[in-house]
Amino acid sequence: WWGCWGETEEYVGLCATACPSVVMRSDWEARESHCAKMNLPSKYVIISHTSGRTCNVSDMCRRLVRDIQSHFMDRLDSCDTGYNFLVGQDGVIYEGTGWNVQGSHTAGYNDIALGIAFMGTFTGTAPNAAALEAAQSLIQCAVDKGYLTPNYLLVGQSDVENTLSPGKALYNIVKTWPHFKH
Ligand SMILES: *[C@@H]1O[C@H](CO)[C@@H](O)[C@H](O)[C@H]1NC(C)=O
Repeated sequence: WWGCWGETEEYVGLCATACPSVVMRSDWEARESHCAKMNLPSKYVIISHTSGRTCNVSDMCRRLVRDIQSHFMDRLDSCDTGYNFLVGQDGVIYEGTGWNVQGSHTAGYNDIALGIAFMGTFTGTAPNAAALEAAQSLIQCAVDKGYLTPNYLLVGQSDVENTLSPGKALYNIVKTWPHFKH
C-alpha cells in the first residue's frame, strides 16, 4: 500500500478504510476511449453536478453512468465521460475517466483537476449524507494515494466557469469543506 505512511498492519487497515469502494468502468460497461493523460498529482478538485436525473440504487446508477458517458461522447464530442468520478445517491462512487485520464468538465483545468460530479440536480436540494461522505472520502483517498497534492484547492465548477453547477444547495455544503477556495 504505497500511499500510506508506516508499515504496521494496523496502519494499513486505517489507510485502506480511507478509500471508498469504487464501481469500476468494467462494472458499468463503459465504452472504450483514448483520452489524454492527467498531469499528476492533481492540484484542484472541481465539484460539479450533472444537472440531469439522479439515481439511488445500483442498477439505476450504472445505467445513468452509461448514459452520461454516451451524452459526452455522442452529443458533446468528448473522448470519454466528462468526469474523473461520479457519485450516486446510493452513496457509491463510480469511476469515470479515473485517476490517470483527463475528464472534460472544465476547459483549462481538465489536466490538473480531479473532476467529481454528483449525479442529479442539486440546486434546491443537497445530495444525501451518504453521497457527501463518499465524495469527501474519495478526496482524502486521492491525497493518500498521491493522485492529489496535499495542498490542493477545492472549488465548485461555478467558481472557475460560467455555470450553475454544482447547484446552490450542493455549493453551500462544498464551501464548508477543507481546502475550499472561492
Ligand atoms: C429512491 O428514490 C425513490 C424516488 O424518490 C424512492 O421512492 C425510493 O425509496 C428511493 N430508494 C432508496 C433505496 O433510497
